[in-house]
Amino acid sequence: MNAKVTTSTLAKMKKDGVKITAMTAYDAPFARIFDESGIDMILVGDSLGMVIQGGTSTLHVTMEEMLYHTRIVAGACKRAMVVGDMPFMSYQISVEDAVRNAGRFLKETGASAVKLEGGASVCDRIKAMASAGIPVQAHIGLTPQSVHQMGGFKVQRDEERLMNDAKAVEDAGAFSVVLEGIPSNIAEAVTRALRIPTIGIGAGAACDGQILVMHDMLGINQGHIPKFVKKYVNLGEEARNGVKAFIAEVQGGSFPASEHCY
Ligand code: KIV
Repeated sequence: MNAKVTTSTLAKMKKDGVKITAMTAYDAPFARIFDESGIDMILVGDSLGMVIQGGTSTLHVTMEEMLYHTRIVAGACKRAMVVGDMPFMSYQISVEDAVRNAGRFLKETGASAVKLEGGASVCDRIKAMASAGIPVQAHIGLTPQSVHQMGGFKVQRDEERLMNDAKAVEDAGAFSVVLEGIPSNIAEAVTRALRIPTIGIGAGAACDGQILVMHDMLGINQGHIPKFVKKYVNLGEEARNGVKAFIAEVQGGSFPASEHCY
């Protein structure tokens, strides 16, 4: 087995120009498959509110739900760094609340880092968590927990604000930053300006790494698929075909056959 991926591994990958690969996961079987395939980072995203729970946003996801899924994923990974995503209202109310909740991810799940959304406005949280020894990944640009404030899931184009947010989270002590839904040229400028690795999703090819939501890239999601997603396989279609074949064989009497019987 290769050594566990740490914040130092990721810093070295940026320095050496080696691209970082990341995916979301929410359960043990998929986490194990991604880890064994060589993915560097697994984010247990609060996107689970949409892709697992079927909601239209991430706002309703609770700390207990995040801790449950993160514990399952961390338990299944040997090499990948596991990052727990801090849900809406787990870090916005106060710095004290933010550190306490971030600490729960490390103490109760086996994750080695947390992620939170926001730039300059959450730097006091990032500083306090980093001082407590908690590695923090920031997330700027299209931040889904601010969907109502942004007026929908919209690409963010304010270059000055994005650059300021990126530098602010780096200065506050974040070890990495997710850039979501921003034009490629801005993501490239931010990536060049930072010492810490940028992980892009809908932010072009110049980021230090890329992340995709597993249900999008594996073809499990059947609804709207954003432009930035590439579907690498169509597991949804495969599953549908498998279930249809099972129904037909049970109804036709060819399953179970003698080899499936005791
Ligand atoms: O919740 C999530 O899955 C995320 C990724 C899309 C970066 O924040």
